[in-house]
Amino acid sequence: MLKLPGLIDPHVHLREPGATHKEDYDSGTSAALAGGFTIVLAMPNTNPPIFDSTTLDLALNAAKQKARCDFGQYVGAGPNNADSIAALAGKAAGLKMYLDSTFGELRLDDMTLWQAHFQNYPQNYPLVAHSESRTMAAAILFSAIYNRPIHIAHVSLKEEILLIKAAKEKGIQVTCEVCPHHLFLSKDDIPAISHGHAGRGEVRPRLATKADVQALWENMDVIDCFATDHAPHTIEEKDSDNPPPGFPGLETALPLLLTAVDDRRLTMDDIISKMYTNPKKIFNLPEQAETWVEVDEKTEYEIKAENQLTRCGWTPFEGWKVKGKVRKVVLRGQTAFEDGKVLVQAGYGRNVRENQNGLLAKVNCRSGF
Ligand code: DOR
Ligand code: ZN
Repeated sequence: MLKLPGLIDPHVHLREPGATHKEDYDSGTSAALAGGFTIVLAMPNTNPPIFDSTTLDLALNAAKQKARCDFGQYVGAGPNNADSIAALAGKAAGLKMYLDSTFGELRLDDMTLWQAHFQNYPQNYPLVAHSESRTMAAAILFSAIYNRPIHIAHVSLKEEILLIKAAKEKGIQVTCEVCPHHLFLSKDDIPAISHGHAGRGEVRPRLATKADVQALWENMDVIDCFATDHAPHTIEEKDSDNPPPGFPGLETALPLLLTAVDDRRLTMDDIISKMYTNPKKIFNLPEQAETWVEVDEKTEYEIKAENQLTRCGWTPFEGWKVKGKVRKVVLRGQTAFEDGKVLVQAGYGRNVRENQNGLLAKVNCRSGF
């Protein structure tokens, strides 16, 4: 039996408020526990989006009543909220800036709109950018100009990971995350995922080429975090004429990554640093006392959507054989998950920002290096 710290997923979509038929704070945090995560940070591209005090309270109240693991809630950068959103920094997981094609309404195309957020959002609080390719290069330039840390979400391309490497070497305060689906799938896998429904292969950033995937593996030391970008949409929505982009990932990330450890493509240190130590530091997350995950390293099983706790009812990894099963999760002294069952009540989860009094220590953005 392998014992791991409670894992942290800094990038999930829990769909609350507005699309709780896909997921909510209850089903999403249950799926998190089943995947070995004890902290999830939820994205703000909900309906309505989380972009002011009223909508933040809406999400936080739902989370307080429903969450079964600990959580933080991001706020979103909009065209007109640079002053008001900065005032909420102490209550939020961080500020999310959507600078590229995504799902939902929060998108900032005009670079003059970025400036106010880079200037105003308090420097010691996490700022996360969805920015791909050349947009990512521009976001890193903003970080250098305004001398503030930036975390790049879901890096998927060779040109991105190489530029982040170069930026780190120059001392720019950039960190990044990579999703399991960009490590284990390329665009060549889309037909197999699709089962005749092209919408199932849709995700942003898109699945990339084999050369891109290989570059991520070759630059494992540049990757600060593994993040799922758990983006549940129902199977009916994925198979419709207008399929929304996104893959669920909370319950498949750890088994896939443990299988890569078994295959000697990763080390256990990679798992602990990228799913615990680094995200804890980058996002300034509290210590969870008496918290750990027990994994049966030897158990081999097949990934099946029907065994998942996410509400979305499908996975792009259906039928994959993995080695390493989450047996038990203990969260703050209580057995929260054991043998496929969530054992803590809705509302057991705590807001990671609750007792931080709005004061964060200086974020060390060069973690792991
Ligand atoms: O595939 C994606 N799904 N990419 C995003 O940027 C958003 C996400 C979602 O919310 O569904
Ligand atoms: Zn996302």
